[in-house]
This record gives sequence, structure tokens and C-alpha cells, in this order.
Amino acid sequence: MKTFYVTTPLYYVNAAPHIGHSYTQVAVDSLARFHRLAGESVFFLTGTDEHGQKIEQAAKAAGQTPKAFVDDVGRRFTELWQLLNISYDDFIRTTEPRHMRVVQACLQRLYDQGALVHTTYQGWYCTPDETFWTEEELVRGEGGAVLCPACRRPVEQVQEDGWYLPLRKHQDWLVRFLRVHPTFVQPATRYNELLGLVQQPLPEAFYITRPKQRVGWGVPVPFSPQHVTYVWFDALVNYISAIGYETEPAKFAALWPADAHIIGKDILRHHTLYWPIILHALGFSDEQMPRMIFAHGWWKVGEQKMSKSLGNIVDPFFVVQGLLKDQPHAADVYRYFLLREVPFGQDGAFSEEAIASRLAADLANDLGNLVNRSLSMLERYCGGKVPGFADGMRPDDEALRQHAVALDGRLRAALASLNFAQALDAIFTLVSDANRYIEAQAPWQLAKAASSARLHTVLSVLAEVLRVVAIALQPFMPGVSQAMWQQLGLGETPMRLSDLARWPALAADHTIGSRGVLFPKPGTKAS
Ligand code: MSP
Repeated sequence: MKTFYVTTPLYYVNAAPHIGHSYTQVAVDSLARFHRLAGESVFFLTGTDEHGQKIEQAAKAAGQTPKAFVDDVGRRFTELWQLLNISYDDFIRTTEPRHMRVVQACLQRLYDQGALVHTTYQGWYCTPDETFWTEEELVRGEGGAVLCPACRRPVEQVQEDGWYLPLRKHQDWLVRFLRVHPTFVQPATRYNELLGLVQQPLPEAFYITRPKQRVGWGVPVPFSPQHVTYVWFDALVNYISAIGYETEPAKFAALWPADAHIIGKDILRHHTLYWPIILHALGFSDEQMPRMIFAHGWWKVGEQKMSKSLGNIVDPFFVVQGLLKDQPHAADVYRYFLLREVPFGQDGAFSEEAIASRLAADLANDLGNLVNRSLSMLERYCGGKVPGFADGMRPDDEALRQHAVALDGRLRAALASLNFAQALDAIFTLVSDANRYIEAQAPWQLAKAASSARLHTVLSVLAEVLRVVAIALQPFMPGVSQAMWQQLGLGETPMRLSDLARWPALAADHTIGSRGVLFPKPGTKAS
């Protein structure tokens, strides 16, 4: 089976990471972990976008060379990925020689094929977004000011010479390709948006070079010493450079095409218009196009997108290490919040209250309570051993069992459409059901009966449910999942998605581990 190859965008290292960046990262991490749990081989690529005018300007403002600056800021990203338990397989920086070599090889190939056009042009340019806009795309601000449609800041008229990839030449191909592959871009709203766009005449030119005198910090263009590569061409090529396009044919053949490029909706056009056209111009066939590009929504503060340039960012380090400092699994609380709060694809509003309420209700009250009550009853009434099903199952037990074994199919269906919120909802519905089961069965009453047979069945049902929940949570909350696994006494036993549908899987007389509070109330210490 082909290795599941999934990517995140390369993050700009012009300022420290914020919640928006960590969102893409946590989502892709959960997806990669899910596929690994299903027994697939996975290659998860991430990295940093380190060239271009924005970086050059930020370095200058910080009084550093661009290289020293990107090294420093880049470290904040890798530290955050470590804090959030991000399990990437490779990390590519666009300033690495292995990447720059491939960018140059791609440019040279396009040039040799005669696929590039040289010209002098004039256009409206947004410096912060590093994007040219057509007259029709611009918006008008107060007093008739001409503004960038993406960030609403003033654009400038710029004249320069450069090399471009003619977009219209590939337009008919792209329209046909999109029609045949309706799931190429997801969710469907984004697909429709793109289809609308490509049915209008596209701008003629996608400039892939910049004059060196304006932007010095970039990949030199091999056939034109006075130009560097446009940062977006440079960055997009990472998806093939990191896996050895033109340099490691065996590795490339094993991984390409990418199964999923996950991005935010602000960079939809770059990934669904420019990227396929670049690949097509390089000679990639329809079968060699990425399988899916999924654009998620934005985290907003109030009505505005959270962004470095708008100055309204929430610092993920603050949330995990400050706001959640009492939590032994703070990173998982944060991951849970991001994935559960908003259906993937839609926008969400971040607030400290929202995260606190998810922690109190879903995590401490529902999940924490279920684990704590079940394991403490197993200790108290059964000496810490899972007693087994000697007494057989009754309809209530059977209903919960069926709910638990059905989770496998629910998770696979939710993850097939990257619906993380739905996956978590399925897991937490089982958790609530199990809590209701405890109330209905009242094991503390059963413990008073002459025979303990019924009590044993109920506690064994609960132990199996905890096992299922621990496995199911692994992609999303790896730390909590591992802690539950330890508390269940499963230690080094491998976790596999296929074991979700096994029941019973715990041996009778299996000994559970030692307990600990998963989600302590603020101000109390975890035991
Ligand atoms: N460097 C480019 C991507 C090149 S990929 C070949 C870039 N970088 S970025 O750092 O600005 O953004 C990286 C990712 O973070 C994008 O997916 C973007 O959508 C996401 N987010 C940035 N702000 C965001 C929010 N406020 N909310 C959610 N995600 C957003 O673009």
C-alpha cells in the first residue's frame, strides 16, 4: 500500500507562531497519527518558509541578517511543535541546499522547455502579502485609497521585468481536471469557489521571479543572475523537493502524489491554481496531481482573522504554559479544544472562556470522571483486576458494547472527510453513554449484593470501554491516551485501530495500573 503522504503549509518565520499556525499543525498531526494507528505507513511533512521580502524586512527591523533571523524565529516553531507533541517525519526549511537545488532544477526545466515568458510589467502589489492583484480584484478604501482585497492595506504600483508562467495556457486543462476530480479541493464550498474562479479568464501571468535589487533574499534563478525566485514558487516546490524530486527517484516514487495538502483558506488560490499549474507545466500527468487539497477556516478574535500583521494574535505558549499551567496534559487540552470547537473548514472564535468550559465540561467532568470512577471501583471492589464476563451480558451491557465497537467505523468515516469535530463527538458520546451506564447500573449498590457476578460484568464492560476510548483518543490527545493506557495496566501493549472492534480484548484477571487525575480542577495538584 502507498505511504500516506500528508503536508502542512510552510510557515513564514517573520514572527513567532500563533494559534492559526498551530491549528493546521495539530490537525495534520492528528490525521497522520490516525493513519499510523490504522497500520499504514505515513510520511508527515512540515517546515518553514524562509525567503522573500517579508522576511528580509522583518530581519532588517530586528537588526539581524536574514539567516540569523530565520534561525531564531524558526526555533520558536520547532519548540512549539515539541510542546504540542507534533509527530512530523521531516521538517524542510526553504533555505536548505536540498530544497534550493530542486527549486533551481524546476526553474531550469521550465526554462529549457520554453515554458516561461520574459517581459516587463506594471501592476498593483501588496508588499505584506507579496501578491500582485489585478485592477478588478482591488478594493476601495476611504478617500478612494486602493487596497489589497486580502489584508485591506494600501497596494503600490510596481514596474519590473521578470519571468512568468502563462496561466491561461493551462486553464482549459485545469477546468477539465477539476470537473473530473470533484474532491480535489475540499470542503465543497472551496471547490465551488475555485471552479467559479477558473471559469473566468485567469490573469495571463504568474510571475515566478523577482528582481534581485528589490528582493535580495531568495533562491537565485539559474538562467538569470539579476533575479531571485518568487517566494511562492520557492515554497510550493517544498512538497516535491523534500521527498527527492529529481534527486532521489525511489523515495519520490514511493511518496508522490501527496495524499493531502492541508492549508488555511487564505492560501487556497496558491495551492489550487498555481500549484497544479506548476506541476502540469513541469510535465506531471493528471494521475500525478496531489489527491486532495483541504482548506480549513480561520481562527478569529471577535470578527477579525487572527494575524501577525493585524496585531491580534493569541500566543499558543501562553495558552498551554500559562492558562493551562495546572493541567498535566495541557497540550492535549489545547489540541482537543482546537479540533472539537469548530468543524474543520469553518471559522471559529477563540476565547479563554471557551477553552475553560471545554476543559471543565467535556474533559474533567465527562472523560476524567469516567476514567476515575471506573478505575477506582475496579480497585476497590476487584483488587485492581478486570474480573471478566463470567455472568454473561445483559441488554444494557450489550448496547454499550455495540456503541463501543461501532466507534471504529465512525472514526474512519469522520476522518475520511477530515471531520475532526465529528470524530471527537463520536468518542465523547460514548464517554457520556458510559457515564450514564454507571448511574443506571449503580455498581456501589451491586457491591452490596450477595453475589458479585453482576458487579464483575459491569466493571468489565467499563474496563473495555476505557480501552476503546484510550485507543480512539490517541490521534487527537496522545498524552491522555497514553496515560489512560498506563492506568489500564496496558503499558507497552501496542495500540491499534483494529483493536477498537475487538471485544473483549482484556484478559480476565488483567491487572490495572496505578491511577492519576487526568484533568485536575484549577488550583489543585495532579496526583
Ligand atoms: N508561507 C505561506 C505558506 C506556504 S505553503 C507552500 C504562509 N504561511 S503563514 O505562516 O502565513 O500561514 C501558514 C498557515 O497558517 C496557513 O495555512 C494559514 O491559513 C494558517 N493561518 C494563519 N493565520 C490563521 C488563522 N488566524 N486561523 C487559522 N489558520 C490561519 O501562508
